[in-house]
Amino acid sequence: MPGQSLILYYSNSGNTKRAAQQLQTRTGATLIELKLAPAYPQSYFGLGLRTKRQLKKNRHPAITNDLNLAPYTTIYLGFPTWFHRPPMFVNTFFETADLNGKRVVPFTTSASSPISESTPYLTEMAKGTGADLKIGFSANYLRSITAYLNDPV
Ligand SMILES: Cc1cc2nc3c(=O)[nH]c(=O)nc-3n(C[C@H](O)[C@H](O)[C@H](O)COP(=O)(O)O)c2cc1C
Repeated sequence: MPGQSLILYYSNSGNTKRAAQQLQTRTGATLIELKLAPAYPQSYFGLGLRTKRQLKKNRHPAITNDLNLAPYTTIYLGFPTWFHRPPMFVNTFFETADLNGKRVVPFTTSASSPISESTPYLTEMAKGTGADLKIGFSANYLRSITAYLNDPV
């Protein structure tokens, strides 16, 4: 893809981190892990409770990185699928980042949910931001990352 690329991701148990690193190896893009406040618990039980409550109360956790998106034309945005949709920090990202004119390529890891489950939420979040939101890809397997890069949509 033309222009500079940036990979932003959040990972709780390491799967999305691995996918982001694999993507980085293949694209040479800058790689940044998103830091969130409040931080999510590491325990599966605690994480489940927190994420459910965030959804119910429509709470969007803060992204505390000092991000400079200006040099980048493509932003890969990686997240775990939680409850058949993107985590609430993804809402924060679209609310706070200047995405005007940027190509945003979401990717997700999950137990089985494909990226298409997240697409309606992402489409809604991207409205009015000026972002060129792509469908993106499911990143559970290296072969799905490679397949996407061979034929980006
Ligand atoms: C609270 C919670 C909700 C989840 N919801 C889904 C889901 O709806 N669909 C799915 O396929 N996997 C679901 N999973 C599994 C995660 O998406 C999967 O383990 C993911 O790869 C975790 O990414 P990470 O290791 O980068 O944190 C869920 C996991 C948690 C903890």
